[in-house]
Amino acid sequence: MTEVRHYLQFSDFTADEYAHLFERAAFIKKKFKAYERHQPLVDRTLAMIFEKASTRTRVSFEAGMYQLGGSVVHLTTGDSQLGRAEPIDDSAKVISRMVDLVMIRTYEQTKIEKFAEHSRVPVINGLTNEFHPCQILADIFTYIEHRGSIKGKTVAWVGDGNNMANTWLQASEILGFKVHVSTPSGYEVDQSVAGIRSNDSYKVFKDPMEACRGADLVTTDVWTSMGYEAENEARRKAFADWCVDSEMMAVAQPDALFMHCLPAHRGEEVEADVIDGPQSVVWDEAENRMHAQKALMEFLLLGKVA
Ligand code: CP
Ligand code: NVA
Repeated sequence: MTEVRHYLQFSDFTADEYAHLFERAAFIKKKFKAYERHQPLVDRTLAMIFEKASTRTRVSFEAGMYQLGGSVVHLTTGDSQLGRAEPIDDSAKVISRMVDLVMIRTYEQTKIEKFAEHSRVPVINGLTNEFHPCQILADIFTYIEHRGSIKGKTVAWVGDGNNMANTWLQASEILGFKVHVSTPSGYEVDQSVAGIRSNDSYKVFKDPMEACRGADLVTTDVWTSMGYEAENEARRKAFADWCVDSEMMAVAQPDALFMHCLPAHRGEEVEADVIDGPQSVVWDEAENRMHAQKALMEFLLLGKVA
């Protein structure tokens, strides 16, 4: 049996594989915009398991799989045996005998790893507490569309040392760019959780303004991620100075882009004039989830296609 490839974290693929994915995503997007069919996954089924809420991830995977000619099964904790303590390995063994691909959004990374260990088919991380690789795949594709290669560029991360921050760090190590990280104290990134080998590709700044200085891309995320709601009040206080505003954008490169994975809270992690302003590419970023993930699903099921 050939080895099953999974996409559980950004570091699961090489720089060469990412170059292929970005090229395919552009090709697939162009066909979609021209109303041309691209259906390499006819008769294939994707199971989507959501243990946390979603708008973009659900719509982009579901619409994307239908456009590729396949179909989807949507499961949540509340409407499946997953919420009634069926062991994760049993669920993986059963579900992966009936579908061709599985996408999971859940809490601990260890849970998705365990599922993958017992799955006969590729498993995709649709967000865990630790990582959000599909989002960064789409974000870098979006950066390339607007500005060309991200190699050698600087990304400023302002806010929580969370799943998005960890994934940016992994991407910087693989694709050769720098991340300037500024988080409130107590919410720092942890290199061991981020799963990177060294601190060569990132630099920590106490002052978010300094992290943004000279950056080619400024990006942030919610102060309180899903699963951390009990910390909401403490986080609102701690993060008050980590709001991306026009002053931060003014010290970045004049052609710097602004990104946010969404959903966003205007007046908290970002001011409205930034997210709704001319440097923001958040709608392209959201749309590109679908095109990038179509390339990802094609790659996991068919390998590199010309
Ligand atoms: N960015 C993102 O993953 O959005 P959803 O939570 O809506 O899927
Ligand atoms: N960090 C956020 C991302 C949401 C898409 C969360 O985990 O809730």
